[in-house]
Amino acid sequence: MLLDTYGRVATDLRVSLTDRCNLRCTYCMPEEGLQWLAKPQLLTDDEIVRLVRIAVTELGVTEVRFTGGEPLLRPGLTGIVARCAELEPRPRLSLTTNGIGLERTAPALREAGLDRVNVSLDTLDPDTFQRMTRRKRHADVLRGLAAAREAGLTPVKVNAVLMPGLNDTEAPDLLSWALEEDYELRFIEQMPLDAQHGWQREGMITAGDILESLRTRFRLTPEGEDARGSAPAERWLVDGGPQRVGVIASVTRPFCRACDRTRLTADGQVRTCLFATEESDLRGALREGASDAEIAGRWRTAMWGKKAGAGIDDPSFVQPQRPMSAIGG
Ligand code: 5AD
Ligand code: SF4
Repeated sequence: MLLDTYGRVATDLRVSLTDRCNLRCTYCMPEEGLQWLAKPQLLTDDEIVRLVRIAVTELGVTEVRFTGGEPLLRPGLTGIVARCAELEPRPRLSLTTNGIGLERTAPALREAGLDRVNVSLDTLDPDTFQRMTRRKRHADVLRGLAAAREAGLTPVKVNAVLMPGLNDTEAPDLLSWALEEDYELRFIEQMPLDAQHGWQREGMITAGDILESLRTRFRLTPEGEDARGSAPAERWLVDGGPQRVGVIASVTRPFCRACDRTRLTADGQVRTCLFATEESDLRGALREGASDAEIAGRWRTAMWGKKAGAGIDDPSFVQPQRPMSAIGG
């Protein structure tokens, strides 16, 4: 198992399949994109499946989430999903995507064994979408979401980040829409993970602001700490339920104490946390012919060193070198 010195056990693996993306969300990347990883640096499909197998069969991972960049840009995605779905014990498999292309691929992903998707969508307005992502793809995302629901990749979750002056008044509208469409909406506080280092604590839309805004239209009742478990989202029943809304207060109420995550970057580095400042190389070990047991050992050692928490609101906080798109969301 993947245990750390604070007694936490990581069972939830996030695997980044590519650092590339077809959007340019302002809170993530500059207009011109980034210096992408070169093909030889990326793990191959076989290497990814091997590491997932080791994580699932030797290290107690039960949940595998594929992320990016934009994971739908990875040509071998469906095959990777299918091979991971054959593992024993079978892990739960999900995907975090911006939804572009999901319209076409949702049925095949479901067929391959994908259980669920999380789709990022910050606004209901196509012009605001273009301002926030620098691309005219709003309709593609909406179609991708509907296709995921139709394919049975449910519950379909929608992740939204609110940015001051851009979409900060949209929380109630987004929730009305999500209830109507039967998507589970979760707001994520903007984190300092953008490549441009443009994050500012000042003016940031907090979980408190989001709840206040939602309460102008909805009655929210907390689900309670018990229901939260190790999930970073705090959830509220909307107008008595059963539908819910989540808020991930990564900055103002971080939930590191119960974190159950381990991460693998597209170039084969283990990260203990989004905000970790160190990585442990598994790709080198793989390519030098290490055995499964050796790789599992390296992974355990990496996780043992996991820090207590990120402490974004702490004055000593240092933003990690790699941006979110390179780490995996
Ligand atoms: N802060 C908060 N959320 C972010 N995401 C990407 N960058 C940031 C950031 N700096 C979100 C995306 C996606 C999820 C993986 O993380 O919108 O929904
Ligand atoms: Fe792409 Fe996600 Fe970054 Fe937006 S937040 S640019 S969708 S990786």
